[in-house]
Parts: sequence; C-alpha cells; structure tokens
Amino acid sequence: MENSESKNPIIVYEGKNGRPKIKVVMKENYFKKSRQSQKPIDANRYPDTNDIITNALISNSPYPGYWEQSENCAFSFFERILKQSNPGIFLDLGCGQGRLLLKFAKYYKQAVALDCDRSRIDKAKAMLKNHRIKNIKFINDSFLKTDMKRDMFDAVVCSHVIQHINTGECSAFISKICNILKPGGTATILTNHSTKKRDFFVKSALENNVISEKEISENQFNEFIADKSNGLPIHYFTIDSLRKYFIGLRVRDIRVFHCLHANTVADKIVFRDTIANIPLIKNYSGRDVIVIISKLLTPVL
Ligand SMILES: C[S@@+](CC[C@H](N)C(=O)[O-])C[C@H]1O[C@@H](n2cnc3c(N)ncnc32)[C@H](O)[C@@H]1O
Repeated sequence: MENSESKNPIIVYEGKNGRPKIKVVMKENYFKKSRQSQKPIDANRYPDTNDIITNALISNSPYPGYWEQSENCAFSFFERILKQSNPGIFLDLGCGQGRLLLKFAKYYKQAVALDCDRSRIDKAKAMLKNHRIKNIKFINDSFLKTDMKRDMFDAVVCSHVIQHINTGECSAFISKICNILKPGGTATILTNHSTKKRDFFVKSALENNVISEKEISENQFNEFIADKSNGLPIHYFTIDSLRKYFIGLRVRDIRVFHCLHANTVADKIVFRDTIANIPLIKNYSGRDVIVIISKLLTPVL
C-alpha cells in the first residue's frame, strides 16, 4: 500500500511470507531538495564575487588612473625579465577573472590558468573568447591539491592570492611555487602589505558603497577563510615576514605599490611610488607589495 497523501518520504508496506516489512521510498526530488536546504559551503568560492570590494577600492584611487599606473609600474621589472627569457610555459596561479592572462599569456608558448573557484574560471574563459588568445589551459582546482610536475614552469604569477589562504598553508604554498618553477625561472607574488610592525588581519566588507576593514585575530581570519561567510578576510604581510618564506631563493626585487594616501603637491613633481620605495620609507608605505624571485640554478644546501 502506498500512502500517496503523505509528503516525502513515501512509506511502502510490503508483506512477505506473512511478515510485514517497511520500506522507505523517497520521492524523486527528495534528496535534491534536502541537499539544497542543507547546501554545503563551497570551500573553493572566492567571497568577493564579481570583485565588488576590489572595484570599490580601485574607484577610491587618489587620482584617476593611479591604480593601474601603480600596478603596471610594479610589474615592469618582471616584464623586463620575461622579455629577456625563453617563451616557455607560464602559470597564472589564482587567475580569477583572467585579467593578467591578457597581460602575460602572449609572451609564452603555453599558459596555464589555475583557480579554485569554478565561476571565476568560467568568467575568465568567457572574457578571453573575445580576444585571440588560444594558448591557455584552465585548471579548476585548489593549488595545494593540484598535481604539478617539479621544474615545470618558466614563470609563475600569483597575484593577490596568498592574503586569502589559511596562515598555516602559506609556507607550503610558496614552497610549492618554487618547486614547480624551473631552475632559473621567475615567480612574482603580489599581496597586501602591512605598514605596521607586524602582520595583521582584517575582514573587509562593502556597506553602502563604503569599504570597512575590521581588524580580526589570526584565528578569526583562519575561521573566516574556512566558513566563507560574507566579507573578505585579508592577511596584510610585513616585508620582513614575507622574506622568511623566500629563504634560499634569489629575491630580485621587493616593491610596495598602491599608496592610497590623499593627494599632495608632491604628486605634481614625482610619482608617489618612487618616494614610497625609498628604503627607509618602504616599510611604512603602500597597500600592496610585489616580490620577484628567481629559482637558483643550483639550490643552496
Ligand atoms: C583577489 S583574486 C585575484 C585574481 C587575479 N590573480 C588578479 O590579480 O586579478 C584571488 C583569486 O585567487 C583564487 N584562489 C584563492 N585561493 C586559491 C587556491 N588555494 N588555489 C587556487 N586559487 C585560489 C580565488 O578563487 C580568486 O579568484
């Protein structure tokens, strides 16, 4: 007998050898519905969907065009290195919506674009369809979980990714970048810069078009990374703490950029990032930092 009146699940009574047996049969959509209602958190979702927080930050640039000018200048040393090196294989690690693929893939025979968030990979693919770039292979996976051959890449760019990973994974993350880099290859890592004397952590959110950054503890940061609730957790690194990850590697350059203080008369005379990178000033300037490293041909023992 089927109780067709009842909601899911349906209970069917089966009598066999005179012994009643109860079988529970789920209606077609039951699992689908229950899965939706207890939808698991997507551990790979990047919280700033559509880069809304990032775009708000860019629109607060101290003068028009500064945000791009500052980043282009930060990348210029890396671009000089790659123009002089072999056009081999390039990795955009945490490619997001693919803007840096447009900038760098053309220098290489083959480019690999990796991101753990499927929706961002899809957006990168859609954006690149409008350009004639055909040498890109996409991988949708988390970097530490992806199988990659040692000494595989001539260059790696990892832009604005390590500030969003669990602090316990930073060391393994950077070691793996070095591992997959060919000897003599170059890696460029961009991240948030702490102008305090210590690393610090914030939860960044956009409320009424205003970005708020609330300082949180390292433990809270790691919890936010895991639970993917609203807001973007960010780790700000001091230059000294970054250097510790690169021991044994050739650090070619460390520059700060995106100096977001208000305009001054000095802006009419000199590019603000030039002043920001004067050695004694560097530790106290810039929202972002770029580190360019080369893998030694013979490793330090
Ligand atoms: C702030 S966006 C930067 C995107 C791009 N690199 C750029 O500079 O425009 C960070 C990206 O890193 C990705 N990401 C974060 N952790 C990752 C991981 N462990 N493995 C792969 N991608 C990761 C996110 O999904 C996101 O798309």
